[in-house]
Amino acid sequence: MADIFLDTAKLEEIREAASWGILDGVTTNPTLMMQAGTADLKTNTLEIVKLVSGPVSAEVISTDAAGMVEEAREILSWSEHVFVKIPATAEGLQAMSEISSWPNGRVNATLIFSPNQALLVAKAGAAFASVFVGRMDDAGLDGMEVVRQTRAIFDIYGFDCQVLAASIRHPAHVVEALLAGADIITLPFGVLQKMIRSPFTDAGMASFAADWKKAMG
Ligand code: G3P
Repeated sequence: MADIFLDTAKLEEIREAASWGILDGVTTNPTLMMQAGTADLKTNTLEIVKLVSGPVSAEVISTDAAGMVEEAREILSWSEHVFVKIPATAEGLQAMSEISSWPNGRVNATLIFSPNQALLVAKAGAAFASVFVGRMDDAGLDGMEVVRQTRAIFDIYGFDCQVLAASIRHPAHVVEALLAGADIITLPFGVLQKMIRSPFTDAGMASFAADWKKAMG
């Protein structure tokens, strides 16, 4: 469906993007919370839920399965819009398998850097598989190829797990992720702003306005 999520915990950015009428959801993580200047995950997440009608992801801090499950129980109780982000580790798989068996077990599997990790989180019942494209590109790898291979594997074997392209660095990543078959792209607000800007649009508007003035005498 080409859903656009904002990858931020900053309410002003979410409010602005939501006002454009194109925002389908929001993803956060501990770093984004820090950048938003808050450590109150519950309050911030519920403020985000008020601004956007789609999924809002909040991440666990624990690294052991029992701790992740305990945090997920709390996080998922906040709102039916909230998804819990669980890392793609062995402990994370154990947690995801349990959480996804709950009636409200909405899991966004995060920190995915290979099609193998994506396969395993899909088997563990995750609703979203978040592939970190930019971090792979930063390391000289081909992040988009992981999106493409994950898409192909999910399609061949009929996995009911959406491919989420994360760690997006620029507008070209958005286009590439869509062509690679990502269901969802989560992007920083700066990238969203760049997607709508074009000097040709600005120049076109300026010349139309100038010509209209001339036409009016
Ligand atoms: O949602 C998390 C992911 O998008 C992080 O991106 O920029 O920290 O690599 P980044």
